[in-house]
Amino acid sequence: MTVPLHVLMIEDSEDDAALLVRELRRGSYDVTHERVDTPAAMSSALNKEKWDLVISDHSMPHFSGAAALKLLRQTQSETPFIFVSGTMGEEAAVAALQDGAQDYVMKTNLKRLVPAVQRALRELEERRERKRLERQVQQLQKFEAIGRLAGGIAHDFNNAIGAIMGWAELGLQEAPPGTRLQERLQKICAQSQRTAGLTSQLLAFARQQVLQPRRIDLNTLIEEGTSLLRRVIGADVEVCLVPTPNLRVTVADPVQIDQVLMNLCLNARDAMPKGGRLVIETQNADLDEEYCRLHTYVRPGSYVLLLVSDTGIGMDAATIERIFEPFFTTKDVGKGTGLGLATVFGIVKQHGGFINVYSEPGKGTTFRVYLPSDHGVADPPKAESDERPAKGTETILLAEDHDGLRELAQEILEALGYHVVVATNGKEAVELFKTNPSQIDLAILDVVMPGLGGPDAYLEMSATRPSLPVVFATGYTAEAASLTSLVKKGATVLQKPYSAKTLSHAIRGVLERADSNVLL
Ligand SMILES: Nc1ncnc2c1ncn2[C@@H]1O[C@H](COP(=O)(O)OP(=O)(O)OP(=O)(O)O)[C@@H](O)[C@H]1O
Ligand SMILES: [Mg+2]
Repeated sequence: MTVPLHVLMIEDSEDDAALLVRELRRGSYDVTHERVDTPAAMSSALNKEKWDLVISDHSMPHFSGAAALKLLRQTQSETPFIFVSGTMGEEAAVAALQDGAQDYVMKTNLKRLVPAVQRALRELEERRERKRLERQVQQLQKFEAIGRLAGGIAHDFNNAIGAIMGWAELGLQEAPPGTRLQERLQKICAQSQRTAGLTSQLLAFARQQVLQPRRIDLNTLIEEGTSLLRRVIGADVEVCLVPTPNLRVTVADPVQIDQVLMNLCLNARDAMPKGGRLVIETQNADLDEEYCRLHTYVRPGSYVLLLVSDTGIGMDAATIERIFEPFFTTKDVGKGTGLGLATVFGIVKQHGGFINVYSEPGKGTTFRVYLPSDHGVADPPKAESDERPAKGTETILLAEDHDGLRELAQEILEALGYHVVVATNGKEAVELFKTNPSQIDLAILDVVMPGLGGPDAYLEMSATRPSLPVVFATGYTAEAASLTSLVKKGATVLQKPYSAKTLSHAIRGVLERADSNVLL
């Protein structure tokens, strides 16, 4: 087998150059070369191409080997440099080595050339390898440090935000309904809730979330996860699932792994604004010592592998370097917070796994998530909370003032088969309801909305239809006073943020006992 070798020769004699090429070819190198013998010619050769090797004569009429070596090293190039000379004395040879040449070979002893080249190339590879490993270690240390910082901040922030939310909530209970004061306190609540969401992602990055691990089957998880994702992802992205049969189980918190999948898929979607292909794949992976030597952040062992690839815009090296940093984003203000991959990184780490990414600009991206595998079969789904979302065909009136949440809830409900009528506040909900009260089978009402909140909106609707089934959604543990009396009468309250499953089961629960659902 021949090895391609692109050589720059600093040599004034065409014949000598030909001799060197012949010698290298005998050593199984597939040589391509250019011969130069002036500084200007060498500079232009270095600028225009990448060279595997520089071979230089010692003294020439218009140039010297020492000057050539200096010129090469000035370009920051690591390319091996070998002197081949008929006249080089011991002193000059030693000086050359000290100046950063890899070797010197006498023209009278050319059979040393090939071994010298082999050694120089091997040592270069080793140097590069060492640098790569050092970078990996540095990268890891950087994440550790940012993680500790983020974790510390997130805890303090969470407490502070909890307090802000609590006080604002107390004020809200005392604020006269419909006043500007009430509205302002509501805004404080809404903002602090948003911030609480960010801190919870930071906590995930800092690996300080409470996990609820179980034996899970990634194939099932990706199947269920993507059935909902497909709608969010849009029609011009083709979604392909490639589950490996006989996949081993992994011990993980399904909610967290869902979040990993979700974040990777949403990024893939964003990377393919003009459409493309999203492939989600699972594999068994056994990593040996050799693999771990090359990837220092990995421990040998048995893993299950989740691959998420897209055919999108890809990333350059400088971007890849930073993607796991919290708040690193290339997206427009308001489009991305830069916490998606930081969260993914934290969750994967907390599960004892690791993640790597391969990407090139214009060629798409592949994320590989390795999670430790385990023996046995997946735990049976937990009663209720882990069943598949329950479907239905009824008409639901959904009132939610937060645009993002309303859109998501609508997506989820429509994916489950429901017909959805949306309102952006309580007043609108009441109006929509009153245009055709018998059409609505159930109302999902956000508890806190500007103007008319869910409970008050419900009071107005139930004046028309006392048995209207209802689910209230609230983001706070402390509840509005008007809700309390409804809760006492048996109203269903969902804690935000809720999952699709929780939402679907709450709906079925309420609809199934609709006959006895008279709250007033
Ligand atoms: N599949 C991908 N293809 C191309 N670039 C990607 C991909 N995934 C991530 N990136 C790059 O990494 C950056 C960070 O991703 P990350 O998910 O952490 O944040 P974000 O998507 O920008 O915001 P957020 O997820 O918080 O909404 C992105 O802004 C993007 O530049
Ligand atoms: Mg993202």
